[in-house]
Amino acid sequence: MITLKLTYMTKKLLITTILLFSSLFVFADEGMWLPSQIAQRIADMQSKGFKLTAEDIYSVNNSSLKDAIVHFNGGCTGEIISNEGLLITNHHCGYSQIQSHSSVEHDYLRDGFWAMSRAEELPNKNLKVSFLEYMEDVTDKVLAGYDPAMTEQEREALVKKNSDQIKKDAESKGKGLQARVAPLYYGNQYFVWVYKVFTDVRLVGAPPSSIGKFGGDTDNWMWPRHTGDFSLFRIYAGKDNEPAAYSPDNVPYKPKRSFKINASGIKEGDFTLVYGFPGRTNEYLMSDAVRYTAELSNPHKIKLRTLRLDIQNREMEKDPAVRIQYASKNANVSNAWKKWQGEMKGIYKMKAIENKQEFEAKFTEWSKGKPEYEGLVEKFTALYAALEPLAFVADYQKEAINAVEILSYAANPKKDSAAFYKDYFQPIDKDIFIALFTEYDKSVSDQYKAPYFKETLSKYGSVEAWADDLFNDESLAKAAQVYVETNRYFNDNIKPQIDSINYELALLYRTYMRGQIEYNKVNRGTRVFYPDANSTLRVAYGSVKGYSPSDAVYYTPVSSLEGIMQKDNPQIYDYNIPQKLRDLYAAKDYGVWEVDGSVPVAFIATNHTSGGNSGSPVLDANGNLIGVNFDRVWEGTMSDVVFDPDVCRNIALDIRYALFLIDKLAGAQHLLDEMEIIR
Ligand code: ARG
Ligand code: GLU
Repeated sequence: MITLKLTYMTKKLLITTILLFSSLFVFADEGMWLPSQIAQRIADMQSKGFKLTAEDIYSVNNSSLKDAIVHFNGGCTGEIISNEGLLITNHHCGYSQIQSHSSVEHDYLRDGFWAMSRAEELPNKNLKVSFLEYMEDVTDKVLAGYDPAMTEQEREALVKKNSDQIKKDAESKGKGLQARVAPLYYGNQYFVWVYKVFTDVRLVGAPPSSIGKFGGDTDNWMWPRHTGDFSLFRIYAGKDNEPAAYSPDNVPYKPKRSFKINASGIKEGDFTLVYGFPGRTNEYLMSDAVRYTAELSNPHKIKLRTLRLDIQNREMEKDPAVRIQYASKNANVSNAWKKWQGEMKGIYKMKAIENKQEFEAKFTEWSKGKPEYEGLVEKFTALYAALEPLAFVADYQKEAINAVEILSYAANPKKDSAAFYKDYFQPIDKDIFIALFTEYDKSVSDQYKAPYFKETLSKYGSVEAWADDLFNDESLAKAAQVYVETNRYFNDNIKPQIDSINYELALLYRTYMRGQIEYNKVNRGTRVFYPDANSTLRVAYGSVKGYSPSDAVYYTPVSSLEGIMQKDNPQIYDYNIPQKLRDLYAAKDYGVWEVDGSVPVAFIATNHTSGGNSGSPVLDANGNLIGVNFDRVWEGTMSDVVFDPDVCRNIALDIRYALFLIDKLAGAQHLLDEMEIIR
């Protein structure tokens, strides 16, 4: 029953067997599945209402749904909604592009932007979208030459060498191909993902922020939600329909596949599928790591970001120019800040730490006499005890020292001064320097502080005096020095210790991953195993469903224009909608998008998603587009670490709200004409 010295082939078999074995049951909606292995889930999906086949979702030889999906600039997802390369993603995913075309004179963030012809579509520097051509298990090739006597570092070097070769071979097979080899299940498996990458991607449309970011950071990560979080782009290709650098001669890309839009509506209980690029989850962590996150890391990072946000918000309030300059930066700082708070609460509420400890105790008991697993938990605990103080220093290096803008800018040899100063307001940065350096001094224990930091601080006598000198116009060289010296100290003294512990942890996790799967199987457990997110394409499925966030409260799953009008308030920046939307509401001018006297705006469902799933297509049982994913509910943000089917919900824009806005607010009928809309 239990193989003691598993060769890696049997380890691989083990994982595959577990997946196959699991498909005999009906499951809760946890999981983000590999498209190429979706056959293992398809029976469960179909039992929940899905009408298509595994081949419809992912196929190497025929066009499939995956061909209409892109990784949007590496951090979001986007999908093709016309056969002329029109793409929809979130407003917040296109935010920095919209911002970069904005100025006080033509402020597309404030007023929105609609290209009324192809000639008006705006090219973007540094924007790329990637289509997945295929993915493939390459575990054998990646581990060719592996010998169990190797150290983790030697193994890593071998993996890198073999992976580079696999990438090179894959990329040589066509124009614009980029490949990535990455581990799954902590290196028990490796896959190659091959993408076709397009870099001429133009801005086509975006609603005003008062719609696209309606509710701002107040409503962010929350339900009920009323954000029109979408923007439109178009992919351009060379005359051969292949990727090409920007040129006025490029033509709209003819996609292999585009989504039909289902505008006939959704209701509670409907099947939903989210197909996109979740960034990073950690579902198989030890309790020690979860405890560090909830008790130390998150609280400190939240405190540091609160300081930054207070300063930025204060200055943005005073000056519209500063508001534009810091709009994108502020949203980024605020986003994780708020998520971490929800995540902590969720971890505590679910008793995730205690539950993991309980499992670890049982696992330890079970592992006695099994050389592969025996003693694992104690080893983890010892390593985490050593890691914790170092990880804490790393958090402060990143969130305090390196968060001061001028420092990293000054130290960057490839300075783009125009780009930097366009969005830089020195009084903000100076106050942030004072606040964060003061916190660093207070919270990081002396033994881990860079000597340069300690010496300079004592030379000036106070952080304020240090700031006065540093923020003189002449002080770029000094700023560079602060960055270089503190990071050098960190990189030479702290990081190597962290890396070496992480190497040991990586090896333990690889074993523990197999152990958890085997334990579950042997004990007839109900846990499902799917690889942690790693910015690769995944399928999550579930259904439209409300939830109860707290005692005596129940949230229904669909929001509408009525809610926007209830929140509308010209005095509050985040809730001040455009007059035109008020007028449309007053006239009930909803056109064909009217449903029960209103217009649907957003909905929630039980799909397991994460950061990176922003912009992902939300599909119905027939694979047609019903929504665009953009968020999760606050009570469920711990799903990156532990999933609770009762409260974990993704939030999607109802596609009909986007269509209504394109039609009635923008008057961009030509865009609707490109789409295939089923009503
Ligand atoms: N929470 C969403 C995500 O993680 C939206 C973020 C952008 N919106 C904002 N108000 N900051 O990306
Ligand atoms: N807004 C997130 C993103 O940018 C998606 C929300 C989430 O983390 O689930 O990817």
